[in-house]
Amino acid sequence: MNQSTTTASTNPSPSPESAPADNGLPAHVAIIMDGNGRWAQARGLPRIEGHRRGVSTVRMVSETCTQWGIGTLTLYCLSSENWKRPQAELDFLMHLLQQYLIEERRTIMDQGLRLRTIGRRDRLPQRVQDEMQKTLDMSADNPGTELVLAIDYGGRDEITRAVQQISSKIAAGELNADALSESMVADHLDTAGMPEVDLLIRTGGDMRISNFLLWQISYAELWVTETCWPEFSRDDFQAAVSDFASRQRRFGGLNVNE
Ligand code: IPE
Ligand code: IPE
Ligand code: MG
Repeated sequence: MNQSTTTASTNPSPSPESAPADNGLPAHVAIIMDGNGRWAQARGLPRIEGHRRGVSTVRMVSETCTQWGIGTLTLYCLSSENWKRPQAELDFLMHLLQQYLIEERRTIMDQGLRLRTIGRRDRLPQRVQDEMQKTLDMSADNPGTELVLAIDYGGRDEITRAVQQISSKIAAGELNADALSESMVADHLDTAGMPEVDLLIRTGGDMRISNFLLWQISYAELWVTETCWPEFSRDDFQAAVSDFASRQRRFGGLNVNE
């Protein structure tokens, strides 16, 4: 039995009228929410309008995951490389993040979402860190979908920090280098304890990973759409999840009937 089937069966059953008719929901969906700026510019609007509109898509996908019983949803909100952007855009993104953490608290609680973050926190403004901590604490015992926000996140940065931790433990004699296993490495990543990514969605059409979850997507199914994030709809999400259900996953092995 593959992982998605195992985990999905522990989640509440999706309602038949809303969920894709399939036999395997992804346990973990990760999304590269891209194309906000292009969506806005194509309409003669400033780039930040695309970011603002993107928040409603975040609300829609988290609500849909709750309804379908998808256990983990990871959203790429800010990469460690996005700090290269103009200060005004970064300031707006920080403002939007803070506003989201405050205004969505009620919805997060109502939907039973459990907030988690991955990436670095130390480079975020203190006010954002404070609001984040409040929402994390408040939602910590919620039983529903784990909503993981990747903020100031980079896969290479995450792996580098894990290697630093592992090296310190080896130097202190707490870990034996020869006994190091893949699961021990995974336990030192920000995503420790989370299921592997089953489905990786990218909006905005670019066929690249952009430093997202490098370790965790090794056998993820990829789904890229030209649709930009502000316009990504529930039907698009359903199409991605339905397509996932029809994929043959082999994990390096052979089909059962081969
Ligand atoms: C994704 O949209 C959001 C962030 C990276 C913060 P972009 O801002 O990258 O939008 P495009 O790709 O330039 O259209
Ligand atoms: C990836 O999008 C990061 C997020 C969606 C937060 P980018 O817009 O930063 O990626 P590139 O620069 O096109 O690779
Ligand atoms: Mg982009």
